[in-house]
Amino acid sequence: MRVSLICSATLFPLACFAFPAIKREISEDTLAQYAALAAKISREVEVKRGPTRRAFDADAQRISTTGEHAYVSPGPDDIRGPCPGLNTLANHGYISRTGVDSILAVTTAANEVFGMSLGLATFLSVYSGVMTGDITSFSIGGKPKSSLLGGLTSSLGLLGEGQGLSASHNRFECDASPTRADYNTGDPVSLNLAQFEQLVAMPKGPNGYDLTVMNQFRGAGFNRSIATNGHFFAGPFTHLAVNAAAYSFTYRFFGNWSAERPGEGYLDLETLKSFEGVIGEPGNFQWKQGRERFPENWHRRPIGDEYSLFSLMLDAVDAITTVPYVIAIGGNTGKPNTFTGVNVGDLTGGVFNAQTLLQGNNLACFAFQAVNLASPDILRGGLLGDLAQTAVQKLTEALGSIFATLNCPQLVKYDTSLFNAFPGAGSGL
Ligand code: HEM
Repeated sequence: MRVSLICSATLFPLACFAFPAIKREISEDTLAQYAALAAKISREVEVKRGPTRRAFDADAQRISTTGEHAYVSPGPDDIRGPCPGLNTLANHGYISRTGVDSILAVTTAANEVFGMSLGLATFLSVYSGVMTGDITSFSIGGKPKSSLLGGLTSSLGLLGEGQGLSASHNRFECDASPTRADYNTGDPVSLNLAQFEQLVAMPKGPNGYDLTVMNQFRGAGFNRSIATNGHFFAGPFTHLAVNAAAYSFTYRFFGNWSAERPGEGYLDLETLKSFEGVIGEPGNFQWKQGRERFPENWHRRPIGDEYSLFSLMLDAVDAITTVPYVIAIGGNTGKPNTFTGVNVGDLTGGVFNAQTLLQGNNLACFAFQAVNLASPDILRGGLLGDLAQTAVQKLTEALGSIFATLNCPQLVKYDTSLFNAFPGAGSGL
């Protein structure tokens, strides 16, 4: 049977579950903003089914770094976290400089400033609101002061108090990241200078630190985690979707577009350093939290060629084609170099297997359905008011129409007991 994913992927059950109690309401105005965003997502799905080439338009693509969007280093109470893209947006006031903002604001900024499709930006934001925040807002780093969370459940997030992205290990933040160390090292949030040096030392591709580089670097990162982290865990969602995104986003969003290179961005060292908050030269790099900034005269992806969930899916398959061993799901069993793969057929009751994972949309279906099947636990205790439920429901329905186009086979079995062999798995996704 083929099913739509309308009620899939952790956030989508919000549209499908009945919530028993009302905690706090949102205003009609805010609801209208949600409805408008949902309508925009639906329109985007209709018009955008594949990659498009657009002419370079300097004025439309140049990102302002002056006036209200001047770089200001974060104050002592401002929060920053593991995502250099969100840190940059906050340092320039494209989202709240406090580091805590609504899913609407984060979605809009990621879309307008970096050229992330509304569907992808909404998915990432709503997922963060549900998993790490209070549903309609979240912290891009550590736990916020409760007064900053403007959302629905205040001190009662779905997972208890919203802890922020920094504390989302194995649900969002994951091991083997490009520039962040593994959770087991004690600091998966700060940029790791040794990893950054390794990235910078890679031979550059035709577009600088492009996907030819990032795919190889992903293979190296996977091997590094296997060789050094006894608690390394590679889950279906965090490894096949989030980890893939961390590598492709580096090039796809940080690359600088120009008239000289229409069609593709170029990511040089200075641009990479600027977005990652690094100063100095190879062998002598320095990093401090809060330094991430837009380079002067930087141009985003062309308007109308936004990077979507489908773009990510294509890049993820491309990465696995280049470094096939990164397709493995599993982990180390307590010591370095003990990586043991989970049999995808056993995990999914034979719906997916290693041979078919790269066919059609299976990779995305597997990664996102894994989140869905784990979600009833996650949603335990969720309390939404009527308007709030309607608001988030509008977004999840709009996202559902995107996932429906994947036409995924139904996953009825998902045997997470197979993860018990991995001490680093926790309740990982
Ligand atoms: C829209 C909402 C977004 C959310 C909720 C989000 C969240 C995250 C999280 C939790 C991570 C850590 C993943 C890991 O452990 O590897 C991450 C990594 C990353 N994100 Fe985002 N992100 C968002 C948007 C963006 C945007 C717009 C960009 C690009 C401009 C971006 C670029 C990156 C990159 C490059 C990494 C990898 C960092 C590394 O080197 O390890 N993200 N993001």
